[in-house]
Amino acid sequence: MPIVTATRRLRFNAAHRIHNPALSDAENTRLFGKCNNPNWHGHNYTLEVSVTGEVDSITGYVMDLGQLRGIVEREVIDQMDHRNLNLEVEILRGINPTAENIVVACWNAIAPHVAPATLSKLRLWETENNYVEYAGH
Ligand code: NI
Repeated sequence: MPIVTATRRLRFNAAHRIHNPALSDAENTRLFGKCNNPNWHGHNYTLEVSVTGEVDSITGYVMDLGQLRGIVEREVIDQMDHRNLNLEVEILRGINPTAENIVVACWNAIAPHVAPATLSKLRLWETENNYVEYAGH
């Protein structure tokens, strides 16, 4: 059977502060600038979730993308949307919420739930100009 990758795009918005508590305030300001603002700032995030697998002979799908949407909403979006990523999100507890760290946390939450397809890539847009990608390694 052919192996195909299918992608679902989901959006959420959230507040955060880029801050490493192991560093001094001065060092945080030097490294992170405006992103270290103690009173938070927000982003409109876009998460692109790609799954790869055989095309099912009955459905013609790698995976029903409505089902994938439901999984991603349940595992990550519902936790993060309209939340403060530093304070309120279980999958980010103790994690400095850079786009890099968010995408890895999303991977760990989503990957166990997409079988028999496999999660092959996450792309997280933090701004129109910046995105990060993670493929599980
Ligand atoms: Ni930011």
